[in-house]
Amino acid sequence: MNKLNQFGHEVVAASPSSGVNTITGEGLAKALAGAQVVVDVANAPSWEDKAVLEFFETSGRNLIAAEMAAGVQHHVALSVVGTERLLASGYFRAKMAQETLIKASPIPYTIVRATQFFEFVGAIAQSATEGQTVRLPAALMQPIVSDDVAAAMADFAVGKPVNGTVELAGPEPIRLDELVRRYLSANRDARKVTTDVHARYFGIEVNDQSLTPGKNPRLGSTRFEDWLSRSIPQR
Ligand SMILES: NC(=O)c1ccc[n+]([C@@H]2O[C@H](COP(=O)([O-])OP(=O)(O)OC[C@H]3O[C@@H](n4cnc5c(N)ncnc54)[C@H](OP(=O)(O)O)[C@@H]3O)[C@@H](O)[C@H]2O)c1
Repeated sequence: MNKLNQFGHEVVAASPSSGVNTITGEGLAKALAGAQVVVDVANAPSWEDKAVLEFFETSGRNLIAAEMAAGVQHHVALSVVGTERLLASGYFRAKMAQETLIKASPIPYTIVRATQFFEFVGAIAQSATEGQTVRLPAALMQPIVSDDVAAAMADFAVGKPVNGTVELAGPEPIRLDELVRRYLSANRDARKVTTDVHARYFGIEVNDQSLTPGKNPRLGSTRFEDWLSRSIPQR
C-alpha cells in the first residue's frame, strides 16, 4: 500500500478492521467504487477444513460479484507456491478453490503464488511442537520476507493482468528443519528441532519439490539471516 501511494495511486486498505468484510459483504461496494484494481490478500481466520473452504469460496464469490458491479479491470490475488502439490491439506484445497474461481471469472487476473513468509516460521515451529521438541522433515523451501511480497504485489497491481500465475520466492533455498532451527536459536527459544523424514508439514508429506518454486520465480532480495538479525528482540 505504501509503495502504491508512493507511485501516486489512490489506495484503499479494506479489511474487517476498517469496516470491509468479504464474507458478509459489509462495506464492499463502497470500498470498490471507482477502483480499477483489487489486490486480494485476505486470509481465513480458521484453517479447519470446512471453515477455510467456505471462507475462500464465499470471499472469492463476493469479491468477484462486487468487482463486476464496480467495473474492476484487474484482480490480483496472493496464493501459495505448490498449492496443487499440497492438496492433502484442507487449507490448500481452499486456496485451489479460490484460484479456480478467479480463473473462471470474467475479470482479468494475476495469481501471485508466494513461498512461505519469514514471518510465518514461528507458526511452522508451533505447528510441529510436541513438548520441547519440534519434529520436522528436511524438505527444501525458499521462504521470502513479507515486505518483498508486498513490493511485488504493488508491481503486479500496476502492471497488465497476466491472466495466469506467477511465482515469488526468497533469494536462497533452505531446508525446513534448518530454517526453524535457526529461527529458534536466534530467538533463544529452548525448543530443539528433530529432523524426521516422516514428519509432516501441516499434516502434508513433503519432498524437495513440494514447497519450492518452478523455473522462473521473481526473487525477493532479503536474506533470512539479515531479517533474523533485524527482527529478533535485542537483549
Ligand atoms: N503467510 C504465509 O507464509 C503466506 C505465504 C504465501 C501466501 N500467503 C497468502 O497470503 C494471504 C495473506 O496471508 P497472511 O499470512 O498475510 O494472513 P494474515 O496475516 O492472517 O492476514 C489476513 C488478512 O485477511 C483479512 N481478513 C480476514 N477476514 C477477512 C474478511 N472477512 N474480509 C476481508 N478481509 C479479511 C485480515 O483483516 P484484519 O487485519 O482487519 O483482521 C488480515 O488483513 C493468504 O491468502 C495466504 O494464503 C501467505
